[in-house]
Amino acid sequence: MLSKKIVDRINLQINREMYSANLYMAMSAKLNDDGYKGISTWMMTQYHEEMFHAMKLYGYLQSQGASPAIEKIDAPAIKAKSVKEIFSATLEHEKFVTASIRELLELAISEKDYATENLVRWYVDEQVEEEQNVVDILQTIEVIGDGKQGLFMLNIELGKRKPSIPLDFTSIG
Ligand code: FEO
Repeated sequence: MLSKKIVDRINLQINREMYSANLYMAMSAKLNDDGYKGISTWMMTQYHEEMFHAMKLYGYLQSQGASPAIEKIDAPAIKAKSVKEIFSATLEHEKFVTASIRELLELAISEKDYATENLVRWYVDEQVEEEQNVVDILQTIEVIGDGKQGLFMLNIELGKRKPSIPLDFTSIG
């Protein structure tokens, strides 16, 4: 059985993952408006990944007899204007999520909650991959430059992204 502290902290993480999903959806909309359909697809794929992260925690709580608490999600604030600025902001956001996951892991360890610890270690690996993906994109922008031609190529490349997770969340658990 999960402690109240762990349940509350997992619920906070669900909220943060859903905020992340909304942030990527908002970025997707902005990039679509700006004419970058491919990068918009990349962001919408990331939206699905974030919803998967939230639903995996949701399913875990239920599998442990605890209740997911769905709270208000803050509206995403996007100040970045250029593609490069958007990916820089994305990296900063993922660093915040990584810190949040580490905090949850440290709580699970301190409570000797090994089941939660195992689950959260999956997120630790996932965060390494997510940060690396964005670092790679920023590096590509450095190489090709953020002029129109470079961004045109990046737009085509990122538009090929496909979700690596199941989109049917009813099968998570
Ligand atoms: Fe769910 Fe992008 O972290």
